[in-house]
Amino acid sequence: MKKITVALPKGRLFDQTIDIFLSAGLLKEKITPKSRKLIIENENFRFLLVRAKDVPTYVEYGIADLGVAGDDVLLEQSPDVYKPLDLGIGYCNIVVAGKPEAKEKYFSNPSLLRISTKYPKITEEFFKEKGIKVQIIELYGSVELAPILELSEFIVDIVETGKTLKENGLVVIDNIRPSTAKLIVNRISYKTRTDLIKSSLQKLENYLATSV
Ligand code: PRP
Repeated sequence: MKKITVALPKGRLFDQTIDIFLSAGLLKEKITPKSRKLIIENENFRFLLVRAKDVPTYVEYGIADLGVAGDDVLLEQSPDVYKPLDLGIGYCNIVVAGKPEAKEKYFSNPSLLRISTKYPKITEEFFKEKGIKVQIIELYGSVELAPILELSEFIVDIVETGKTLKENGLVVIDNIRPSTAKLIVNRISYKTRTDLIKSSLQKLENYLATSV
């Protein structure tokens, strides 16, 4: 039987997804990446360990049948995939943040806001809807540095525990939306579902329906 290929982000979401697969009865034992190997296989599954932002690409191009990606990544990339299940993990909020003293400017009908972010599309859409002009500076990480070093007054980023903002003297100024991790499915894999894909999706759905 053909194995199901699953693209998973390295790190916390990897472990949490494996736990869901275990609880749903798709795996018999825990899978823990021990070495720097990027493909881990068992009898039924082939797990690809990829960067969170690359998960939709592997699924859209059919390299992986399934993948796990946060709303932040999915909204930014709008990949052409099926998005059938909210896994209820990877909770975070997409927010506008800055130094506490920047709040006033933000709420006093500014003409132009300068914003650093890893999420240019989400940022552009959010402010377009508000009718506020923005200058977006795209960064690839450690976005919290931008207000400290005065690259921009504001950032748009995800906040999970709030620790990074706090330790860098920043506060949430506006909420854009919450984000959780979704199971995404390659369109062709979904259409031509093998018995294994069908039963796996069913088991995950059943488990998630009872675990809420
Ligand atoms: C993310 C995000 C924040 C941080 C939020 O960064 O961009 O910096 O996590 O988490 P917290 O609210 O729990 O502190 P990530 O760890 O992915 O690193 P990066 O800045 O290099 O992208």
